[in-house]
Amino acid sequence: MINVIFCGFGGDMDKRVIARQGDLLLRVAESNGVKIPTDCKDGTCGSCAVRIEDLSVTKEMKSTEEDYDANAQSVYMDDKELDTLVGMAAISKKEAEIAQQYNRQTHVRLACQCVIKSDILVKPFV
Ligand code: FES
Repeated sequence: MINVIFCGFGGDMDKRVIARQGDLLLRVAESNGVKIPTDCKDGTCGSCAVRIEDLSVTKEMKSTEEDYDANAQSVYMDDKELDTLVGMAAISKKEAEIAQQYNRQTHVRLACQCVIKSDILVKPFV
């Protein structure tokens, strides 16, 4: 079981919920009453962008690249999602290249494309 913490969405939408590995973040949000704006649900409009923090990566792990690589979850991000995030200037082209090259999750994700792999903190993008 995986902890998903929604923070900054306001009122009773700020909560911790339990998800399963492989769940889609947008479905977890919707089924728990957390409203994330959507339009396409296909990874192209950018409406559902959220900030993500991987809670399985501790400060100590972030101290060196080697520690990070050894401990962080490998996360595949589709080209379509990365292109949308770059297009809306949510991430830089360099961040997208690093995400692709090292299978790392960017700090902004599209909830409709984000498959949950570990404990995460989710905040609104704006
Ligand atoms: S709803 Fe359009 S990118 Fe997620």
